[in-house]
Amino acid sequence: MTGLRCTECAAEHEANQLQTVCRECSMPLVATYDLQAVSRAVTRDDLRHRDSTLWRFREMLPLDTDLDPVTLGEGGTPLLELPTLGRNLGLHRLLGKNEALNPTASFKDRGMTAAVSMARALGASSLAAPSAGNAGGALAAYGARAGLPVHIAMPVDVPSANQLEAQMCGANVTLIDGTIADCGRWIGERAKSEGWFDVSTLKEPYRVEGKKTMGYELAEQLGWTLPDVILYPTGGGTGLVGMAKAFEEMRELGWLDRSARLPRMVAVQATGCAPVVDGFLAGSDRGVVPEAPHTCASGLRVPGPIGDRWMLRTIRETGGTAIAIDDDTLLEATRQLARDEGIFAAPEAGALVAACRQLLKSGELRADEQVVLFLTGSGLKYSECFEA
Ligand SMILES: Cc1ncc(COP(=O)(O)O)c(C=O)c1O
Ligand SMILES: [Zn+2]
Repeated sequence: MTGLRCTECAAEHEANQLQTVCRECSMPLVATYDLQAVSRAVTRDDLRHRDSTLWRFREMLPLDTDLDPVTLGEGGTPLLELPTLGRNLGLHRLLGKNEALNPTASFKDRGMTAAVSMARALGASSLAAPSAGNAGGALAAYGARAGLPVHIAMPVDVPSANQLEAQMCGANVTLIDGTIADCGRWIGERAKSEGWFDVSTLKEPYRVEGKKTMGYELAEQLGWTLPDVILYPTGGGTGLVGMAKAFEEMRELGWLDRSARLPRMVAVQATGCAPVVDGFLAGSDRGVVPEAPHTCASGLRVPGPIGDRWMLRTIRETGGTAIAIDDDTLLEATRQLARDEGIFAAPEAGALVAACRQLLKSGELRADEQVVLFLTGSGLKYSECFEA
């Protein structure tokens, strides 16, 4: 890693100290690498001899290679063909990356292994974050593993399994009558006065580095090619922007064909909270904050994501789109995925199935395109949502 650059004003920041957002414009920072040095140090073939965790992409991750990461064995999740679901939807080449196989059963572990490893290496003494659900459990787990105290603020109505998991891992959990935005303000104020390091989505630069490994793994599992379309359940959006970053990096590294087209990135949200979809449809470069954000897909209840410009740029640059699904439809689609393929996924991921159906109908997706669904978490933590 060579440093950190602001995603909006390009101001450069030092990477050898704890950093949050840009000191000039308060927008997210992103890690830069010496890609020529990396391509000299490691080849695609070298990866074959490494273990399956996401740390196999070590040279393209921020932690110094002589330091041990805080790891629970995250990444290396299966990319599965979904033939029955594909047939029922009318898609010939449908795949799902099952992120429920991560240590705390969601893709949030990828971000947290990177963020917590870096925070510990750079001297943080305690960690904090607001969470719409799965991120809280993941932070608590990696904080415990690192031996660092963790403070989490969650909306009162997040699934009880998320709260329990965070508490079991020893985190201080505060429940707030509001959304993740209210939790974020609560954490932000206390982080300043108490000296907690705030690892909120895109308010520190390394969760996105961990999440981008979904893009590296996908390319590797597809024999160093990319699919036509990726559907991603979008809250804060780290995976969406992270994967696009990974694809650009791999083109520069020569791991992907330099002329390889990037997949069309599709952001899927819930109609009760669809700031990115509404911003996209309005032709705006900003999200549109909903008045009363609500959805049972708790990870999608992010009304004012700080990465809205970055996400909208990524969607447009890749020729993608954004689509919102209502709660009844996404729950039924989650059921269809479970019934057809035996994958009981989080409702956020189920929304992708409904999105496929609608995009096929509108002609934005063609039957012969290779489509990858990011099945971001397990349905087992959402019993209240499914039982209701
Ligand atoms: C299962 C699941 N899917 C998707 C999301 C949204 O992820 P992101 O904030 O990276 O957009 C979350 C966030 O909590 C989640 O828990
Ligand atoms: Zn800036």
